[in-house]
Amino acid sequence: MGKDTLTVTDNRTGKSYELPIRDGTVRAIDLRQIKVSSDDFGLMTYDPAFMNTASCRSRITYIDGDKGILHYRGYPIEQLAERSSFLETAYLLIDGELPSRSQLETFTRNITYHTMVHENIRKFIDGFRYDAHPMGILVSTVGALSTFYPEAKNVFDKESRRTELYRLIAKIPTLAAYAYRHRRGLPYVYPDNDLSYAGNFLSMLFRMTERQYVPNPVLEGVLDVLFILHADHEQNCSASAMRGVGSSQVDPYSATAAACAALYGPLHGGANEAVVRMLNQIGSAGAIPAFIEGVKRGEQKLMGFGHRVYKNYDPRAKVIKRLAYEVFDAVGRSPLIDIALELERIALQDDYFVSRKLYPNVDFYSGIIYQAMGLPMDVFPVLFAIGRMPGWLAQWEEMLDDEEQKIARPRQIYLGSGRRDYVAISERR
Ligand code: CMC
Repeated sequence: MGKDTLTVTDNRTGKSYELPIRDGTVRAIDLRQIKVSSDDFGLMTYDPAFMNTASCRSRITYIDGDKGILHYRGYPIEQLAERSSFLETAYLLIDGELPSRSQLETFTRNITYHTMVHENIRKFIDGFRYDAHPMGILVSTVGALSTFYPEAKNVFDKESRRTELYRLIAKIPTLAAYAYRHRRGLPYVYPDNDLSYAGNFLSMLFRMTERQYVPNPVLEGVLDVLFILHADHEQNCSASAMRGVGSSQVDPYSATAAACAALYGPLHGGANEAVVRMLNQIGSAGAIPAFIEGVKRGEQKLMGFGHRVYKNYDPRAKVIKRLAYEVFDAVGRSPLIDIALELERIALQDDYFVSRKLYPNVDFYSGIIYQAMGLPMDVFPVLFAIGRMPGWLAQWEEMLDDEEQKIARPRQIYLGSGRRDYVAISERR
């Protein structure tokens, strides 16, 4: 058995260096000692988009992208989707262990207690244009919460941190539902704390004049599972935003606003919306071959396909595909499912997708479910944000408690102009 070290020779100087290998990684900072002269800054690594750089040690979520495996705190996602609830999974992600019955009751009570938002948030939402994208509203209102809870700045006070964590998990569905109701021009619905987490969200979305809103149990159950499936995904773009912004020790509401903003993009949580737009644009199964040819020519992407980490079928997509049929049985079949199934079938036989290991990801089928549930497309990324909240918080807490972490501050390779003197505007050519 060899040593757990890496020996590198700098051919510029002929010097060799022995770098420790731990957990399959070398520390980028260990390369700094490699210099050609004493005033040389030292060697750096260059890794745009963090293709091969671990930014933290984490104990939260494990993904094996080649095998299509996803675990939260060691528990396979399929088992959690089948047997857990979203709030239990949130507890697991944040605490590290599954709760006892009384721990879960207390956690659920604490979340439920915080579902209301300050009335001024409603007025704030009223200020948005009638057609404002709900994700834009969410980014702003989550950030605005920091002004209501100034004590949230005490990010190293574990008790205060716990309260903010309850508030964020509790209030994000309320903000999301208000954003949706604003979009529809409907009155806001206050939280109903007699309902489950998912049931209350459905009530805030859809309640009209009923005295007591009774959620459809199938939709309530499916939504809860969808939240579980989205709850964390290790160091994705939005979790990295949460950690990166949080590393400045800003309050969690501001860091969450950054995470929501990252999620909004079409390559991340905005993909579920983009998939449905794409399926509508394709329009019929007959149009798929021409669409696929366009994708192969680089004219557009096959949204809901491909992943930085998964080079196999996304395990979440498998569960979601099953859930779609439960929803269709309850509320009617979406015609988009047939286009999606055919698109998947054709793509998975095509060498372009096979050779690049492009498989359906979590967003390929989730939008179809949301649409069948009666939700407009621009609400889909907001649903992703609700599910992802406990993951962001778990990642944020882990970052704060990690003594190796500091303010996130990457280096660059400067390729711009050398020093030059300012030229007065009258003398510029
Ligand atoms: N359609 C067509 N070609 C694709 C796609 C796609 N969806 N995804 C990747 N490729 C091609 C890409 O063009 C490249 O080809 P080539 O080697 O010829 O240049 C190759 O596959 C490798 O792709 P990449 O761009 O290096 O992969 P990445 O890891 O940088 O990007 C991704 C990952 C998810 C951003 C990308 O696959 C993508 O844009 N997918 C569509 C958007 C989407 O569904 N996003 C949701 C991701 S899952 C939910 C979440 O966690 O946010």
